[in-house]
Amino acid sequence: MAEEKLYVSYNTVHKLIKKLAKKILDSGFDPDVIVAIGSGGFIPARIIKTFINRPIYAVGISYYGIDHKHREHPTKIQWIDEVQGQLRGKKVLLIDEVDDTRATLAYCVGELLSYEPEEIAVLILHNKIKQKDVEFPPEIKRYYPAMEVEDVWIKYPWDADDIDEQERLEKEMFERMKKEGKELLI
Ligand code: G4P
Ligand code: MG
Repeated sequence: MAEEKLYVSYNTVHKLIKKLAKKILDSGFDPDVIVAIGSGGFIPARIIKTFINRPIYAVGISYYGIDHKHREHPTKIQWIDEVQGQLRGKKVLLIDEVDDTRATLAYCVGELLSYEPEEIAVLILHNKIKQKDVEFPPEIKRYYPAMEVEDVWIKYPWDADDIDEQERLEKEMFERMKKEGKELLI
């Protein structure tokens, strides 16, 4: 359904991130730093720090400049100038909330690769199963979506005006899915 929405509560975000952290560590990837793509990646990055305690570098990438005009390509609106030299030879855990068109993520990966890190692992809460505008370069060998979802609009808790209503809508969605015999594995 076109107007179908996926409601996500803070509890769900926390559980998804905890599961991801275990998966990454179990796979043998031991990151040196976390890079969070703002603003959607900020809260997931802070939660992952509870399970994988590494410094977080925040970057801001957007199709919109500070003049709010839409650009052709994603551009940096905040970058890690002071520390970018320190990424050389390091293992980077890159985190964002959603892989939609992949444009922002792939742009960020490309920029980070220019600092010659040992490896970059990409982590997101949701990957939308769809034709992507761009692919990741071959250097990306570790890609961890907490969930694979259809191309629906995801309502994240940090965008909610009424957080109790957000939780109620998520619960309602789970009940509806249960009735339909679908299950979201969290
Ligand atoms: P991608 O690399 O993650 O696929 O990003 P893309 O450029 O395709 O996404 C453009 C913006 O749209 C991003 O926000 C992304 O987070 C947001 N977006 C895409 N799908 C959804 C969705 O289902 N729900 C919500 N809430 N947002 C979505 P941004 O420019 O990075 O801004 P910010 O919200 O992270 O600050
Ligand atoms: Mg984002």
